[in-house]
Amino acid sequence: MSVDNPVPNSPSRVAVVTGAGRGIGAAIARRLAEDGFAVALIDLDEAGATASADAITAAGGKAVGLAADISDADEVERVVATVADKLGPPTVLVNNAGITRDNLLFKMSESDWDSVMGVHLRGAFLMSRAVQKHMTDQGWGRIVSLSSTSALGNRGQANYSTAKAGLQGFTKTLAAELGKFGITANAIAPGFIATDMTAATAERLGMGFDDFKAAAAKEIPVRRVGEPEDIAHTVSFLVSDGAGFVSGQVIYVAGGPKA
Ligand SMILES: NC(=O)c1ccc[n+]([C@@H]2O[C@H](COP(=O)([O-])OP(=O)(O)OC[C@H]3O[C@@H](n4cnc5c(N)ncnc54)[C@H](O)[C@@H]3O)[C@@H](O)[C@H]2O)c1
Repeated sequence: MSVDNPVPNSPSRVAVVTGAGRGIGAAIARRLAEDGFAVALIDLDEAGATASADAITAAGGKAVGLAADISDADEVERVVATVADKLGPPTVLVNNAGITRDNLLFKMSESDWDSVMGVHLRGAFLMSRAVQKHMTDQGWGRIVSLSSTSALGNRGQANYSTAKAGLQGFTKTLAAELGKFGITANAIAPGFIATDMTAATAERLGMGFDDFKAAAAKEIPVRRVGEPEDIAHTVSFLVSDGAGFVSGQVIYVAGGPKA
């Protein structure tokens, strides 16, 4: 079944959010559903994706949770075809799925490097390539990729900061190539956001999460850490019709300037 469009021939309002089983991705999916999109929540963790989709449906939105590894080309082709079949052609893609494998350079393994590149860079490439066919058919599209303030350099994250800087170049190139089809591409570079990812970092450093957040907040100009909804709000703006002249940009959402 495809999504009903209020205006004939208007683009389908179907969004795909990767890594939406929890954290920032789950908040983005909730927000896009509130904005009127039918949302496909894709995650390695099928139970998380399904639970987040069910919560959206229970709140009156339209959502489906689907399992896929976005670093696997066959799985990406399959899952994007399933989205088109179940919800209609996707016109919004949020490349959000991510992992960390932090280590100082001299201790970083090849697998730490390859797995981070695989999810962030290869994953965003495969998903964007698969979804852009639908966007160009519809003559409208929005691609938002999650970078990070770590793109500016961060101790212990040679792999992650490289991937997040890479996503900024990827975004600018997509903006240049796809603009003539009515598609914009932008990146959001969050600072510290309270999620399982940052909770795991606190644990690795042997700190309680509340103490870790309080210490981080002291260094942030607005004196608080970010919440997933801060990022969801920025995505909501970037995918809106009114943001059609904003493309190839990196927006730092970090409670301060950062870049
Ligand atoms: N939390 C922060 O402070 C912060 C800051 C800057 C950028 N980011 C970025 O924001 C995004 C979301 O971060 P988060 O804090 O919500 O992380 P998170 O770890 O809470 O959630 C990430 C989700 O991605 C999924 N995922 C991982 N690998 C996948 C794969 N191969 N295929 C499909 N799904 C996969 C995980 O299962 C998980 O549900 C990430 O790209 C992260 O790098 C986070």
